[in-house]
Amino acid sequence: MDSYLQRLATLHAELGIPPDYAATRGLSPCEEAATLVPLGIDALERDQFADAAAAAAWLRMRDAAMADGIGLEFVSVFRSVDYQAGIIRRKLSKGLPMSDILAVSAAPGYSEHHTGRAFDLTVAGAPPLETVFEETAAFTWLTQRATEFGFYLSYPRGNPQGFIYEPWHWLYRASA
Ligand code: DAL
Ligand code: ZN
Repeated sequence: MDSYLQRLATLHAELGIPPDYAATRGLSPCEEAATLVPLGIDALERDQFADAAAAAAWLRMRDAAMADGIGLEFVSVFRSVDYQAGIIRRKLSKGLPMSDILAVSAAPGYSEHHTGRAFDLTVAGAPPLETVFEETAAFTWLTQRATEFGFYLSYPRGNPQGFIYEPWHWLYRASA
């Protein structure tokens, strides 16, 4: 973990992320999944991968939703530290202020997506990764049923970690 934290500190310094980022946001580092299984193609036609237990739980939840007429799809699942750094670099190159970027994207090393257990979810007809996902029947279904499958909403409105409201982001913790 120490060498991981050193790697993150170097990367954060390079990106211009404040050294007190984790402390002020109350965030703990998320380690990259050691092994991943393929999930198939996401709603944006990219290959996605997940932690094996999370993938199995996802399939159970997807099938239960489907039985209720809800066609859940994933948009983003595993993201490496380097991939997350690329997201931040891309936003910086567009001129976005760091504070705005860090309200939307976790600093590399602090994204639950590194674990392979965070799933950004959507449904056909909903724009992915937008607040309006909360108005879909899929979101209502998730709020009622996701915990049965071990999935929890990480960033509700007013979350203490200081991220924007993310009705689409569900973390697999364990079977209920
Ligand atoms: N959007 C979430 C916070 C992430 O970047 O992991
Ligand atoms: Zn997410």
